[in-house]
Amino acid sequence: MDHTDHRKYHGIHPADGKLGVMIAGMGAVATTFVAGVEAIRRGLAQPIGSLTQLGTIRLGKRTDARCPKIRDFLPLADLNDLVFTGWDIFTDDMYAAASKAGVLERELIDRIQPFLESIKPLPAVFNRNYVRKLDGPNVKEGKNRMHLAEQLRADIREFKRSSGARRFVMIWCGSTEIFLQPREVHQSLKAFVSALESNDENISPSMIYAYAALSEGVPFANGAPNLTVDIPAMHELSRLNEAPICGKDFKTGQTLVKTILAPGFKARMLGLHGWYSTNILGNRDGEVLDDPESFKTKEVSKLGVLEHILQPQVYPELYGKIFHKVGINYYPPRGDNKEGWDNIDIFGWLGYPMQIKIDFLCRDSILAAPIVLDLVLFLDLAQRCDELRRLGIQEWLSFYFKSPMTVPGLYPEHDLFIQSMKLKNTLRHVKGEEQITHLGLEYYD
Ligand SMILES: NC(=O)c1ccc[n+]([C@@H]2O[C@H](COP(=O)([O-])OP(=O)(O)OC[C@H]3O[C@@H](n4cnc5c(N)ncnc54)[C@H](O)[C@@H]3O)[C@@H](O)[C@H]2O)c1
Repeated sequence: MDHTDHRKYHGIHPADGKLGVMIAGMGAVATTFVAGVEAIRRGLAQPIGSLTQLGTIRLGKRTDARCPKIRDFLPLADLNDLVFTGWDIFTDDMYAAASKAGVLERELIDRIQPFLESIKPLPAVFNRNYVRKLDGPNVKEGKNRMHLAEQLRADIREFKRSSGARRFVMIWCGSTEIFLQPREVHQSLKAFVSALESNDENISPSMIYAYAALSEGVPFANGAPNLTVDIPAMHELSRLNEAPICGKDFKTGQTLVKTILAPGFKARMLGLHGWYSTNILGNRDGEVLDDPESFKTKEVSKLGVLEHILQPQVYPELYGKIFHKVGINYYPPRGDNKEGWDNIDIFGWLGYPMQIKIDFLCRDSILAAPIVLDLVLFLDLAQRCDELRRLGIQEWLSFYFKSPMTVPGLYPEHDLFIQSMKLKNTLRHVKGEEQITHLGLEYYD
């Protein structure tokens, strides 16, 4: 960290030099993100959907007319300073992987072909027991899980040396693993380390990446619903090494819509009988989720949101008997262009029922890529911020997740608008600006 420029220092170190982005899992989301960043850097496209690039933040009173762009308010890394590496079980470079993912038009990826071809995946830490529908040749071998973690740490150190970057972030864009529950080995760093050595099957590949990253002081974001960093052992390691963490599961299509609508129903005291959600999806993610064990992990992540937003225990007459169902069906012809249907049975005054139907023709990775960008930039901000760096879990980044991580015992906030306020108030707080409460009585004094 550069401590020399005291004029700029407000508890947040400046974003000097390059930022190294390490991506575990270089499939549809990862390639859409990296290709998108390069296209934006070359002026070929706009960063639509990215709060860090387009968002503004109001400061002070409404009459003050202070509303800078977030990226002008805080020292975020510049897109031109991002450099990339990653791991995958397939040997395809990012050009080949982006072509196969079929999210972006060929004309666009062809214009940045040499850049994408220059990013080749390192051999992955992978085990079919955790992602049953996949298998690939680009995989590390090791006598136990600790040995595999050491190989990942060596990759990280090599990237630190070769990339010319001074700060780093790792993000999991790999497949959804089977459903795992927290066990004894996850409860402390000591237990976790000995479980790595004894090759305990409660430790999945994504946990090995997270352990390697945090051990090297690299912040880690989890884009999948896997347990990964959401265990006490990782919270401990994150705080110990002051490497921030956040997760789980990017909040993109159907769940994004759900966490926009449900707070509205509750705010207006409209009741809910049931919410039936189903999807058809034809990309590799859809194929992996066709396995019931991987789907279970996703299902738990998707189902949690309504309960927390609607609070049935507080409003039994409105939300005491909700039937909530989520399904994902693998349907190859659709590729990455998912179709998500929602049937929502609400009720109003005197209990009269109404229905809302949503048919969202959505592009999964197009919605996920700006989230990856924002998480990378905000985690990098957190590691440069004296106050945030020490916290471990970055709850203020809940905005981006279906299943936000919190300190054990604290329920997560799922309401997108509360999450947005939490994020922006955190940004104001770290810059010493006043919180915005939306009270506003002072304008009428
Ligand atoms: N696209 C979205 O809207 C969205 C939203 C929320 C979460 N997610 C999650 O993000 C992840 C990525 O989604 P995607 O559409 O890019 O999927 P994808 O299948 O296109 O890409 C995942 C990649 O991870 C690789 N991989 C799997 N296990 C690995 C390991 N142990 N090490 C290294 N690489 C590994 C696979 O080979 C594949 O290339 C999935 O877990 C998905 O559930 C996506």
